[in-house]
Amino acid sequence: MNTLPLDKLLDLKGKTAIVTGGAMGIGFGIAYRLAEAGANVVIANKDKQSAEKAVKELTGKGWKAVSIETDVSQEEDVKKMLAETVRVFDGVDILVNNAGIYPSIPLANMTSADFDNVIAVNLRGVFLTTKYVSQEMIKQGRGGKIINVSSIDALHPSSVGLAHYDASKHGVWGFTKNAALELAQHKIWVNAIAPGAIRTPGVESFFKKLKEQGINPKQAFDAINAKIPMHRSGEPDDIGKVALFLASEMSSYMTGEQVVVDGGMLLA
Ligand SMILES: NC(=O)c1ccc[n+]([C@@H]2O[C@H](COP(=O)([O-])OP(=O)(O)OC[C@H]3O[C@@H](n4cnc5c(N)ncnc54)[C@H](O)[C@@H]3O)[C@@H](O)[C@H]2O)c1
Repeated sequence: MNTLPLDKLLDLKGKTAIVTGGAMGIGFGIAYRLAEAGANVVIANKDKQSAEKAVKELTGKGWKAVSIETDVSQEEDVKKMLAETVRVFDGVDILVNNAGIYPSIPLANMTSADFDNVIAVNLRGVFLTTKYVSQEMIKQGRGGKIINVSSIDALHPSSVGLAHYDASKHGVWGFTKNAALELAQHKIWVNAIAPGAIRTPGVESFFKKLKEQGINPKQAFDAINAKIPMHRSGEPDDIGKVALFLASEMSSYMTGEQVVVDGGMLLA
């Protein structure tokens, strides 16, 4: 049997990975594992300051990382980010579409602008980066890996106030499958990760804002944890490890799949 040795399976040396929204939370958990595996990591984040802090943490460990200020909902930003990545690292092999927002807004108060904003970041952002990065991967002719961070909300709602978010994440899942079908001829494999409740800065502010809707944040958080068969929320590294699996040769025969990483939450 002609198999890759175990120590080579997770080796990403010489590969370049773009992680959108990689400055904190799940994105940083992913950027950390990819950098540790040897990849050159590009943190493509809207907020420059937190991205620079994240890069410092990674390069402080002797790993390779740069930040490029990017708003994934803006086509020109995405094009510039890709051009800069290719200039700095001479190509791109892995794209992680992680940037996403989840403002809780009851339907009755949701404006068209609120709806459009969530779709623009969570869904159009995935389209824009996938379109331009896959074009570059096709030009390079060495295949690639695209990983979309969707959500268990791509399958089942987790909370009220997230109708726009759930629409965007169902969209990401559909987009993942169709892109996987189209890009397979170029050896570009496209998969998704559907996280459950993960402790991140974004989730912390989500729970704080529930107060404004008359919901007790602690009770809401405890109610979610009680629903999880593993009896704990996830950590960014729980997602980082699965992203490393999907970015590496460990997942050599997978495309168009969505891996649910939720401590069993959807079972309950
Ligand atoms: N945390 C969870 O429980 C959970 C569960 C399921 C899915 N997700 C998904 O995981 C992803 C990350 O979530 P998180 O909880 O880590 O979020 P977070 O708010 O903690 O971090 C998000 C990061 O993305 C950046 N960002 C926001 N908008 C951007 C834009 N337009 N362009 C580029 N960068 C942008 C932010 O600056 C930040 O660095 C999102 O797609 C989210 O929907 C999270």
